[in-house]
Amino acid sequence: QFGNVIINDIANFDSLEAAWDCFNWLKHMRENHPVYYDPNEDVWNVFLYEDVKRVLHDHTLFTNKKKRSFIPIPRNLNNRSNLNFSDPPEHQKRRALLAKAFTPRSLKDWEPRVQAITDELVDEMEGRREIDIVQSLSIPLPVIVIADLLGVPSKDRNIIKKWSDTLFYPYEQGSMDEIRRKKQQAHQEFFQYLYPIVLEKRHQLTDDIISDLIRAEIDGERLTDEEIVLSSIGLLGAGNETTTQLISNCFYCFLIDKPSTYKELRENHDLIPKAIEEVLRYRFFAKMDREIAQDTNVFGPKMKKGQAIVAWISAGNRDERQFASPEEFDIYRKGNQSHLTFGAGPHFCLGAPLARMEARIALKTFIKRYSKVSIPKTFRLQDHLIKSVSYASLKSFPLIVEK
Ligand code: HEM
Repeated sequence: QFGNVIINDIANFDSLEAAWDCFNWLKHMRENHPVYYDPNEDVWNVFLYEDVKRVLHDHTLFTNKKKRSFIPIPRNLNNRSNLNFSDPPEHQKRRALLAKAFTPRSLKDWEPRVQAITDELVDEMEGRREIDIVQSLSIPLPVIVIADLLGVPSKDRNIIKKWSDTLFYPYEQGSMDEIRRKKQQAHQEFFQYLYPIVLEKRHQLTDDIISDLIRAEIDGERLTDEEIVLSSIGLLGAGNETTTQLISNCFYCFLIDKPSTYKELRENHDLIPKAIEEVLRYRFFAKMDREIAQDTNVFGPKMKKGQAIVAWISAGNRDERQFASPEEFDIYRKGNQSHLTFGAGPHFCLGAPLARMEARIALKTFIKRYSKVSIPKTFRLQDHLIKSVSYASLKSFPLIVEK
């Protein structure tokens, strides 16, 4: 199922805490090696806002039709469910088919469903003085939402979450074969689970993403059953862990990076969307890779066709050329939505409005319910981190709550 040419990037943190604070290293790279060549992997790295944006925008110089990536490359690249590894103009058609499920109207229809799922999760916290926000909200919300929107039974969410975690677990050197085997198995099981669901829905279209994908037609072209299954798996991969991290990181920023924020948001809920944008800019780890499509010196040094290039999105998000006092978490910051966390250009995240909505509803519902929230005195960051696609993310985050 997956190709095997994985890029190892240049980041090398000696602890999970250092990885969590990777922004120090990104600053160092921005200041000292804004365009950095790694001879071991034959990979270029860019760290400045404008350069990162250029790599993401300019598909004529930086193509997604690549031989290597840190995302495992699927073997069947011609499959139309695959947006990641294609360029315009062919990418546009693939994207348009999937976008049929992500219209502003669908989003409006989804809002009450997301609210109902969130209410249920927040109701389950009732009576507890200490809540682990990661396990009780950030992890379950995106997986239940996507299961519901795809139209698969939400009782299967635990197994769906398990498949999704295995499929998108980072590759590590040393255990590559083992991880690849597990991923292949998860992919096969997931495929076999979804396939009959798609066949069934073909006969009885309903109000969900799988049905939208069955209906979708562009220039007389429609997706096959297999492509719909693969698109659904792709949506889980794109939207689960990312949205989990966003919600967890919001709580971390509001209570640890700038502890006055929770109270401010409690007093004025209208600030929540702006605060989420600032979290996306300030504390969300992201990077993307491309292949150099033709020899170029747009960033100074000569880069050769066929070499890989990594755009360090989170470094760009803290570039002082773009954001004043970038190392400061400031929910009132003007223009913070110009962060690159959802990408830029033709591949801009299709699920960004959904991710923003989930985060907004999750935070608003929780903040309305609890007037005071604090961190236990015994809290030690290192006990709550886990290795992840973003090097380190929160596996738990205990909060002491008062109504
Ligand atoms: C693409 C980030 C949530 C679906 C992308 C890209 C980024 C990104 C950076 C661009 C990739 C590239 O340039 O190669 C995020 C973040 C999220 C999030 C930070 C949450 C905080 C979601 C959700 C969904 C989703 C919830 C859907 C359920 C997609 C899809 C693409 C994409 C389908 C491919 C678009 C294309 O290649 O044309 N996302 N994403 N994402 N995202 Fe998201």
